Amino acid sequence: MMDRVRLGVIGCGSLGKLHVNLNFNRKDIMSADLHPFAEKLEVRGLVDIDLAKAEALRETFGGAYATDDPERLFADDKMDAVLITTWHDTHAPLSLRALASGKHVLVEKPMVMTEKECDDVVEAVERTGLKYMVAFRSRFGKGAKDVKREIPHPDNVITHARTHGIWREGMWAQDPIKGGGQILSQGCHIVDLMFFLAGAEPESVYAVGGVYHHSRPDVMDTLNAAIRFNNGSVGALIAGDGGAGRLMNHPKLAYQFPFFVMVIDKGRSALVMDHGHDARFESCVPESEWTPPYDVADYTHDLGSEAASGMADILPTFTRCILNDETPPATARDGARTTRFIRKCFESAITGKIVTF
Ligand SMILES: NC(=O)c1ccc[n+]([C@@H]2O[C@H](COP(=O)([O-])OP(=O)(O)OC[C@H]3O[C@@H](n4cnc5c(N)ncnc54)[C@H](O)[C@@H]3O)[C@@H](O)[C@H]2O)c1
Repeated sequence: MMDRVRLGVIGCGSLGKLHVNLNFNRKDIMSADLHPFAEKLEVRGLVDIDLAKAEALRETFGGAYATDDPERLFADDKMDAVLITTWHDTHAPLSLRALASGKHVLVEKPMVMTEKECDDVVEAVERTGLKYMVAFRSRFGKGAKDVKREIPHPDNVITHARTHGIWREGMWAQDPIKGGGQILSQGCHIVDLMFFLAGAEPESVYAVGGVYHHSRPDVMDTLNAAIRFNNGSVGALIAGDGGAGRLMNHPKLAYQFPFFVMVIDKGRSALVMDHGHDARFESCVPESEWTPPYDVADYTHDLGSEAASGMADILPTFTRCILNDETPPATARDGARTTRFIRKCFESAITGKIVTF
């Protein structure tokens, strides 16, 4: 029986470093029940195609070796699991190699780039029975969990995934091959939150959109979609960059992102804001039927940006899932649903047709 998890980090850039640092150094913003699992993690190998980055992370967090070759991790029989924090086009091939080598996988979002990769990764996870978790941070936020508990079956889900600022043209995430653009790269967080709160699968989508403020004609930057879910509920998604700014925010919000998901269920409504961190509730039904846990004006916790979405809980939750043989809170099927949905939105916007799932 395993009593600890030996981890390899593939991709020692910002997020590789952030996850490991939060695990070891930020118990102050981690859920208390996860503290024992943070201690059961051991960094064993560090990989980056830029070897200096792997070596720098090893100097800070230890580990048996740093390398520029992920195959060294896959061949290491003392390695239990890998964290994949690389550019998006490498998520699927690295996931498939890790699973084929018997390693559990925690992957940063988006899980994969294409619909074919969705199928391949889900198939490999289900065939191997290994743990596979996607780091969709918004699900881990307190506000998201409160709304999911209070309004589990909304009949309407309205999602605003439009961020402020215009993403830099030259950055890797805007590249159609390496990143897929802002909607896939960042919008995927809120699309996942939308499905988490809807508690349903997509049935059909009709989207309009295009390129409005970027130079590349092949990376859509604006998308408005109407969605039908398979439980009969309906929703709307507004996604893209270059807008909204802080108009949507309250100055007390910790994370200051203008993302939100509003859920409505026959007079009960809630707004999940700030990357899942915070929520507001409103009731139009008698108190005898439902009392919201807190009010529209309450901002419940003010912990700073990393705490804002339960980010520090992600790696110890993955460790717990491995050691306790639990299903991860965001699975390969969740990751696949999100990428597939965004791809189908693009398809609908390009063809002008309703696309079914
Ligand atoms: N959850 C969040 O809020 C959040 C925020 C930013 C980025 N991310 C995600 O984290 C991941 C990494 O983004 P980042 O901002 O850390 O990027 P980054 O560029 O800082 O780091 C990525 C690292 O991966 C390395 N790399 C690329 N291909 C590799 C390969 N095949 N093998 C080994 N190393 C490889 C690069 O050299 C780089 O050091 C992405 O999936 C991104 O979407 C998540």
